[in-house]
Amino acid sequence: MIIEKDKNLKGLNTLGLNINTAWYSAPSSVDEIRWLLGNSQFRELPVLIMGSGSNILFTGDFDGLVIHPALKEITITDSDSESVTLRVGAGVDWDDFVAYCTDRGWGGVENLSLIPGCVGASPVQNIGAYGSEVKETIVSVEYIDISTREGFTLTNSECRFGYRDSIFKRELRGATIITFVSFRLALNPLLNFDYSDVAAKLSQISNPSLHDVREAICSIRRAKLPDPEIVRNAGSFFKNPVVTEERAMTLKEANPTLKLFPADPGYIKLPAAWLIEQCGFKGVREGNTGVHQNQALVIVAYKGATGVEILEFAKKIKRAVKTRFDIDIEMEVNVIASS
Ligand code: FAD
Ligand code: EPU
Repeated sequence: MIIEKDKNLKGLNTLGLNINTAWYSAPSSVDEIRWLLGNSQFRELPVLIMGSGSNILFTGDFDGLVIHPALKEITITDSDSESVTLRVGAGVDWDDFVAYCTDRGWGGVENLSLIPGCVGASPVQNIGAYGSEVKETIVSVEYIDISTREGFTLTNSECRFGYRDSIFKRELRGATIITFVSFRLALNPLLNFDYSDVAAKLSQISNPSLHDVREAICSIRRAKLPDPEIVRNAGSFFKNPVVTEERAMTLKEANPTLKLFPADPGYIKLPAAWLIEQCGFKGVREGNTGVHQNQALVIVAYKGATGVEILEFAKKIKRAVKTRFDIDIEMEVNVIASS
């Protein structure tokens, strides 16, 4: 296992922020992770777990140990006439895993095609897109407690998944290294293409296959979202706010173009992109940062942008939405302050 000192992370975070970490390592087994955590050189240092850095905003250098879990195994642990259960290493690329499943005709994750990142990060914010969330297929999550080095397994319900939320963003925030995630995939999947963009894309195909759904979603995403390799970004910068039905209806009456999305009973999810666009930020550039011209929920980093600059711009957007609509929009991106 290689341990690197003073490593630059510019190529390892999708915002392309030019920052350094004091130490970096990519252990490929549970034993290597335990060894690292127990090593006296690192024991007192802050630890940050990174997958592909596609949902992280650094506001400065990290004076600690960055661990990238590189466990890559995919193992079938169970199967019956209806499903197959897979135990997948945290370091497997998420979209490679989706392709692995759809190539075999196993359904459940196809709507989450092309989401950047690693499998180990997928339960953290319960990744979601196009009418599906990863919690629908997760059976359990294995993790190592960073301070005690003990291993634990949480069942799906113990993960307390919600919209862009889980126990890993709350009580266990920053305290775990997720090592393996187990998924149950359907052998005869019921495809979900209700989301309006997906339904429109598939309207010409009479009986879409798993592959058709994956292809449709990849094509919608390529058209709508900037590729971080070309335009630096971290996906949606904010979560979509959830408000009471009553509040949503009042807003809709005053703003007929506002689209409403389902949430828990009695609640409605509002598109934060619409709120931000109404405040005049879509396509706006300020210094080395700005809002993408096609998707108002995506903050982009131009050459030379710093995390502090992006964070200040995000706060400005948040204040504008609060002033205009009296709605608080919460950041989805994980801010890592310099330590
Ligand atoms: P990182 O950014 O490296 O980490 C994210 C958080 O998880 C951090 O807090 C980190 O400490 C923690 N973490 C990572 N790995 C582990 C681990 N093994 N154990 C414990 N904690 C860990 N998200 C969606 O939900 N839906 C989308 O449609 C979507 N589209 C996107 C499009 C683009 C262009 C981009 C850039 C991002 C998008 N995202 C989307 C956000 C992002 O892809 C997800 O949040 C993804 O799960 C992040 O994975 P990662 O490996 O890059 O995690
Ligand atoms: N809209 C605007 N202006 C825009 C973009 C969108 O007004 O610039 C409005 C439109 O009314 C549109 C609605 O917002 O119908 C929803 O837009 P879209 O389908 O693009 O989805 P989103 O709410 O902006 C969410 C997720 C994405 C996910 C897509 C598809 C969050 C925070 N974001 O975006 O996830 O890919 O739905 O399901 O929930 C991410 O989390 O990083 C991410 C990209």
